[in-house]
Amino acid sequence: MGRVFWRTRFGFYLAAIGSAVGLGNLWRFPYVVGENGGGAFVLLYVFISLAVGLPLLIAELILGKNSRKSVLAATEKLKSRGNKSFLWSGWLSVLIALIVFSYYAVISGWVLYFLTQFAVAFFEPAQLTDRRFESLMGSGLLQISLASVHLILTIIIVIKGVQDGLEKWISLMMPLFGVLLIALVFKSLSLSTASDALRFLFYPDFSKLSLSSLLHALGHVFFTLSVGFGTMVTFGSFLRDSDHIPTAGVRVTLVDTILSLFAGMLLFPIVLLGVDHRTTDPGLLFQTLPSFLIKLPGGTLFGFAFFLCLYLAALGASIGLMEVIVSNGVERTKKDRKIVTWVCGLMSLVIAVLPALSSSVFKDFRIYGKSLLEGFDFLMINWLLPIVALSLCVAISAGLPYAEKLKHFVDNEKIASVSLFPHWLFFIRYICPILILLGLSLGIGALF
Ligand code: PHE
Repeated sequence: MGRVFWRTRFGFYLAAIGSAVGLGNLWRFPYVVGENGGGAFVLLYVFISLAVGLPLLIAELILGKNSRKSVLAATEKLKSRGNKSFLWSGWLSVLIALIVFSYYAVISGWVLYFLTQFAVAFFEPAQLTDRRFESLMGSGLLQISLASVHLILTIIIVIKGVQDGLEKWISLMMPLFGVLLIALVFKSLSLSTASDALRFLFYPDFSKLSLSSLLHALGHVFFTLSVGFGTMVTFGSFLRDSDHIPTAGVRVTLVDTILSLFAGMLLFPIVLLGVDHRTTDPGLLFQTLPSFLIKLPGGTLFGFAFFLCLYLAALGASIGLMEVIVSNGVERTKKDRKIVTWVCGLMSLVIAVLPALSSSVFKDFRIYGKSLLEGFDFLMINWLLPIVALSLCVAISAGLPYAEKLKHFVDNEKIASVSLFPHWLFFIRYICPILILLGLSLGIGALF
């Protein structure tokens, strides 16, 4: 059966960028930068995006376009010298997509909460106080309900399929989000703390890096570019023959990285205004931004629009994550897409209960000093994801024939792609695995 392609090339970009841009840029990036001491980490992050994230993103898209299948079937077809398949690497991708999708729903629920709070504030401004985030954290039931609403919305869109679902929704949100973000960055940069914030973000003080910083940068880059989850394999499988993959990869990486830097410039001047600026908390975005926005003239409207865009970005990313699980599920089980989607949604809801209760019922349960939700995020993104990415590097460089890689990478009309091909091969085969192995080893070293 033929695959349904993107209606337009723009549709692919919207979906790929819509899946890459999400909570990773606005929620996760600022606090990971805070945890890792600022400027030097930002530099490391940009370097890893280009040296490891981009080559792997291109590799995943090629794998999808070549096989015209989702990650399980695509990795099953790859054969190593000993004629073993790389299916296990595909399974790891699907597993991580399922777990991340589940706790992503909890955080998307937080966004939904602030969206409704800003909506209510139109009528009752006094109720939107600084303490909103704390009261949300105290209610596990509310977090589960919000995550369920988010899951149901995602399910409905994913059931409608790739064209009607993705293209329409994401095209609505992207331009508005860009404009709002830029407007907010301007506002932030006019604050008295702007120069301190910019120094914190862009002045590299290498003494602030720790042994685990490389691993954190790798994990975050994979997360924010949606690499290692099989998402880009699925999206690549919908590309048309005439679409040029490296160009697509470069564009997605640039847009995503620039947006993260914007998020940092937006948030840190506000954070530094506060008396006790704890920059390392996963609640950073939600603790600082709403209370700043409500004090601005017209802030309620701005806050509402911002959280609406952020929610749509989270939805775009969730669709990308769920699409992986569903498209692989349908290919494997040959069951109806609707059934597979609902089963996947239900499984995610069950998994999401744990992180959703992490700040209430399981408040005292700590792993290495981290709450359950932080622990999930830490284990999945900082450890499992780099391992999955490493396995994909090996699978693609050893299992995909040279001629296939050449065919999908090189476009004879684009001279640059001819000369870049050997470099890309070199990065996938040597640089990326070496940097990931180095990150993992240093990370293990940091544990002791
Ligand atoms: N890249 C998304 C973000 O930054 C998360 C994501 C990962 C989405 C994997 C799809 C697949 O929020």
